[in-house]
Amino acid sequence: MSFIEFFKQKLVINWRYYKSIYSPFGESELRELRKHGVVIRKGIAQDWMNRVLNELKGLEGPMQLGSQNIYEVREKAPSSKRFFEDKSITQLVEAYLDGGRSYRKRFSKRIALVSGLEGIQLYHFDDWKPRVKVFLYLSEVTSKNAPMIYLKGSHRSKFAWWRMQKEYQYFRYFRIDDDYNYLTPEAKDCGCFLLPDITDLKARHGWEEVECVGPMGTVIVFDTTGLHRGQPFNTQDPNATRLLLENSFK
Ligand SMILES: [Fe+2]
Repeated sequence: MSFIEFFKQKLVINWRYYKSIYSPFGESELRELRKHGVVIRKGIAQDWMNRVLNELKGLEGPMQLGSQNIYEVREKAPSSKRFFEDKSITQLVEAYLDGGRSYRKRFSKRIALVSGLEGIQLYHFDDWKPRVKVFLYLSEVTSKNAPMIYLKGSHRSKFAWWRMQKEYQYFRYFRIDDDYNYLTPEAKDCGCFLLPDITDLKARHGWEEVECVGPMGTVIVFDTTGLHRGQPFNTQDPNATRLLLENSFK
């Protein structure tokens, strides 16, 4: 668990990806993802999305970290395959992660019905290794129903000391089981930044916040090594919800 061991693994894991995010070439969404770490593809509601909603009715699991997740969503809601198998998304992510490393983790097939408590509201990265998450909104997401906020460009400083300290902590302490329960007391705070650190980093790097809002059908693609956070619901409406499909790649 030494720093040298962490650094060796970081070099190996990052070198192809590093080349990818600094490449100036590519299609516009790919270029945007490399530059900002996040792409918001504004969408429109389509019939098959309503079919997904119908297929998912009544399937929500228990509340966990502020989310109700439905795993193996593709089997339970076959209409959702259209999202999970969408070539325009998978090709974008494969190009970004430099090919052959696109991989769906078990929880990629999930739907989150987030209400009330939102999981992580401190700025954080999800992992020290390159990962991409893709959301498809199945409800309109506005400032009121807990949109994610992403710091544009914060995925790029791979070898900055502020990042490596946090990543090394993550490397040492972050452990979860197959059901996403934390296995160490430190795990839940791994990768998290307090507000004074974020204020300084934003001032130093000029990062802008982007609020990931959009109508039903909007797709959000983001690099989870970039700093992002959830927000609480900003509404008195007891039925407020944020509904999405999520896919993860590594
Ligand atoms: Fe996150």
